[in-house]
Amino acid sequence: MSAMTAEGRTVITIDGPAASGKSTVARLLADRLGIAYVSSGLLYRAATHVALRSNVELTDEEAVVTLLRSHEVALEPDPSGNRVRVDGVDVTAELHTDAIDVAVSTVARHARVRAWVTERLREVRGSFVIDGRDMGTAVFPQASVKFFLTADPEVRAARRAGERSGELRQVAERLRRRDEQDARQSAPAPDAIFLDTGPLTLEEVVERVLQDVRAALPLGAVER
Ligand code: DC
Repeated sequence: MSAMTAEGRTVITIDGPAASGKSTVARLLADRLGIAYVSSGLLYRAATHVALRSNVELTDEEAVVTLLRSHEVALEPDPSGNRVRVDGVDVTAELHTDAIDVAVSTVARHARVRAWVTERLREVRGSFVIDGRDMGTAVFPQASVKFFLTADPEVRAARRAGERSGELRQVAERLRRRDEQDARQSAPAPDAIFLDTGPLTLEEVVERVLQDVRAALPLGAVER
């Protein structure tokens, strides 16, 4: 693994299934390293939000992409979480709802929506930690260090149940369906470091990830 990407910056990717802990870990890691945190899932959520609001058929790739091109969607990396503005209006608070959870995989499956998200992400300058499904494979194959977080479905369902409405069984079923729908774009990179977060506390996960980053970037060469 190279210490930096070709552009002379540090990009660390954290991929994994829903509720595997990737966004929390990515945010804490970015904080510890003093670089930005970027959430790719938030752009898929924003695309879904725009599509639902405009009542376009979510399975209609052409309609969804045309709609996205007619709006200005801006992702603003922020150490405490990311914000998304659509035509200047902050919609972040509306992106983690059950309605978006249920619809997002349908929108994320379209190749041209994925290309639109990839374009937005490659516009982000500087060093960052980014989480998603295909960050270490399709979007940033030259990343400095790549992680793939996993956790048993029951562990993930219990975590997600704390954040969403509904019973554990219902939450588990929704996660299972989303895993299935997201499977195609969720293959780990061959050079990703795997970590099962189930038996670990959040602090332990962050420590392990930090150790791996230090081992992969031996001179402590995190570019800011
Ligand atoms: O990480 P998240 O749960 O916020 O992501 C929301 C959805 O977006 C997820 O169901 C799949 C999709 N997604 C994707 O297909 N590729 C990514 N890199 C990130 C998210």
